[in-house]
Amino acid sequence: MLDSEQTTWINNDGFSISINKRFLDIELIYHFLSNESYWVKGMAKELVEASIESSILCYGVYEGNPNNGPAKQVGFARVVSDLVRFSWLGDVFVIPEYRGRGLSKWLLHVITEHPKLKGTSFQLATKDAHSLYSQFGFKPLGEVGNRMARPLNLEVVYKGYKLST
Ligand SMILES: CC(C)(COP(=O)(O)OP(=O)(O)OC[C@H]1O[C@@H](n2cnc3c(N)ncnc32)[C@H](O)[C@@H]1OP(=O)(O)O)[C@@H](O)C(=O)NCCC(=O)NCCS
Repeated sequence: MLDSEQTTWINNDGFSISINKRFLDIELIYHFLSNESYWVKGMAKELVEASIESSILCYGVYEGNPNNGPAKQVGFARVVSDLVRFSWLGDVFVIPEYRGRGLSKWLLHVITEHPKLKGTSFQLATKDAHSLYSQFGFKPLGEVGNRMARPLNLEVVYKGYKLST
């Protein structure tokens, strides 16, 4: 399904993003979500692992390139999607020491430009990072709590599958 898509992105500062789940530092993700996040504090490790296993795309941000040997994971995001009409973005974080240098914006760019995610409606929930996500086309869902969404763009969906409308 995701075969032949790009799996690694490299920037000029020595960081990389990979969608290869084998490279993920489960301990780091679990530690952050369970201890530091405001949305799933106390979450069981098994559930963090299950959510990763069941999510179609998990993005690790690394200092270094995990394809070339050990690299330190410094960020994460997870996408649940049917790759046609609906996507959900969750568990976005960058560890504190690496914040404020554009890594989450780069991550959001990589995620929202994925050919098979690009046209789908995209939802997420956030307490205070609206201005991060709004830079990538997310808009408030009105009165529905703290949710934001991007509208379905079928033309772009078709393009992602290299089909004409
Ligand atoms: C939110 C978070 C992922 C941002 O990561 P980062 O790599 O430091 O962010 P960047 O350097 O790429 O810049 C973030 C941009 O979003 C903006 N922003 C909006 N809300 C923000 C927030 N709550 N925290 C950080 N930045 C925020 C910043 O101002 C910046 O915009 P600008 O550079 O255009 O002015 C990181 O602070 C984090 O992990 N926080 C804890 C977990 C969390 O809240 N995750 C989001 C859940 S919805």
